[in-house]
Amino acid sequence: MSEAKNSSAQQPLYEKYVNPQWVRLLDVLGMNVHYTSCLGSELFTDDGRRILDFNSGYCVHNVGHNHPGVVRAIKAELDRNGPAMLQGHVPELAGELAQRLCTQAGGRLSKAFFCSSGSEGVEAVIKFARANTKRAGILYAGGGFHGLTCGALSLMDNPFWTTEFGPLLPETQAVPFGDLGQLEKHLSSRKFAAFVIEPIQAEAGVLIPPPNYLEQAQSLCRRHGTLFVLDEVQTGMYRTGPFLAAHHFRVEPDMVILAKAISGGLIPSGAVLMSDAVYNSVYTSFKRSIIHTSTYSENSLSMRAGLATMDVLADGNLGERGARLGRQLREKLISRLSHYDMVKEIRGLGMMSGIEFRPPKKFRLRILFEAFSRIHPAMFGQVLVMRLFRDKAIYSQICGNNFMVLKVAPALVINESQLDEFVDAMEVIVDSMHASTGFWTEALGMARRVINVI
Ligand SMILES: Cc1ncc(COP(=O)(O)O)c(C=O)c1O
Repeated sequence: MSEAKNSSAQQPLYEKYVNPQWVRLLDVLGMNVHYTSCLGSELFTDDGRRILDFNSGYCVHNVGHNHPGVVRAIKAELDRNGPAMLQGHVPELAGELAQRLCTQAGGRLSKAFFCSSGSEGVEAVIKFARANTKRAGILYAGGGFHGLTCGALSLMDNPFWTTEFGPLLPETQAVPFGDLGQLEKHLSSRKFAAFVIEPIQAEAGVLIPPPNYLEQAQSLCRRHGTLFVLDEVQTGMYRTGPFLAAHHFRVEPDMVILAKAISGGLIPSGAVLMSDAVYNSVYTSFKRSIIHTSTYSENSLSMRAGLATMDVLADGNLGERGARLGRQLREKLISRLSHYDMVKEIRGLGMMSGIEFRPPKKFRLRILFEAFSRIHPAMFGQVLVMRLFRDKAIYSQICGNNFMVLKVAPALVINESQLDEFVDAMEVIVDSMHASTGFWTEALGMARRVINVI
C-alpha cells in the first residue's frame, strides 16, 4: 500500500465501510489521531507527537510494537516461500511452538490446539471440556471477560456485552470471583464440565484472587470431576512475571487459553494448552483427527512469529524484568497518588496494574461526579483517559467491566524513564481532578459532546 493510501485522508472510507460509530467515539474523545509508526512502547503521529502506549493493545504487545526480532523472523518466513497454509501436511513449526509453550507452562499441559484468537480458544475449551467429561454445564467467574463469540459471551455476566445477542449457551453459570462456598455449591451438582476463570481478572478491574483461592478452587474442581481452566489471554506470556499467572498461585490447570501476545502482536494467533487426558478424549481416532480445527490456526507465519516472540521474551528475560519494573511502578504510584481522596487502591502483579478510583468525598465534586456518571457510567474514566492522551501524550484505557479502574499494562520492554513519565503525568491529572475547575470543566465539555452524538 502506498504512503498516500495509508493516510488519514482515507479515514472516510473506514467510516463509510467499516465502523462509523468507532470513528465518532474517537472523535469525541479527541483520540482520533493518525499513527505513522509504532516501536516498542512509543507511537508516532503524523502531527509530530510521540505517545507512550500504556495499553499495549490490551496485552498484545508484550515484546513491544514491531519488535525487530519478530519482524525479521516473519520476513524470513515469507522469503522462504514455504508451505504457509497447505492444510495437507504436518506443520513442523506448530510442533516446535507447541513444545516451547508446553515446556514453559509445565504441570499437566502437554498438548496444544492452535487457533487465531482468544475467543476461539474459549470455544475450543467449551467443546473439549464437554467431550472429556460428558457433561454440558460450564461454570465461570462473574465479572470476567472471555471474548465476544457466542460461546465466550455465554461465560460473561455483564449484560452490556450480552444484551440482544441471545439466546446464548444454556447451562452456563456465574459464581462470584473469590467465593469458594458458591463454587462448591455448584460443583457438587456434578453437572459442570469446566470452571473457566482468569487467574487475575483483567477487565474486571485487575482483580487479584484472595490468597489460596485458586489452589482451593482447583482442588474442589478435581473433587467434583470438573476441569479447571484458566483464561490467560491477558495474563499469559510473562505479562505478570512468570510465563503463566498460574505459576504465582501454584496451580496446575487442565487447560489454559493463550492468545494476544503469543505472536508478538503482529499475526493473529491463539492456543489452548491441555493435558494428554483432555486431548485424548477429543481426538480419539483417525476419523476424529481433524474433529476440531481452524483454517488459519497452524499457519507458518503465526507459528514463526510465535517462536520468535518466545525467543525475544526469553533472551531479554522480559518476564523477570517486567515483574521488577512493575513492582517499582506500583511503589512509585502508591507514594505519589495514594494520599488523594479519589484514589482507592493501586494493585497488580508484574506489568499489569490497576489504579482504582472512587467518588470524591467533597460535596461540590461529588455532585459533579454523580451528574457525569448519570450521563454515562464510563464518563469519569474516559475523561481521565482523554486528559492523559491529550495533555500528557499517554495512551491508556479503563477496564471494560469496571469503569473506575485505569488499567496500566505497557509493553514488557518499557524502560524506567518512560514509566516515570507515566507516574509524573498521573500525578498532574489526579491532582487536577481534586480541584474544582479544570478536569471537571473538561468533563462537562465532553458530556456535551457525548449528548450531541447519542
Ligand atoms: C481474558 C480474555 N479472554 C479472552 C479474550 C478474547 O480474545 P480475542 O479478542 O482475541 O477473541 C480477551 C480479549 O480481550 C480477554 O481479555
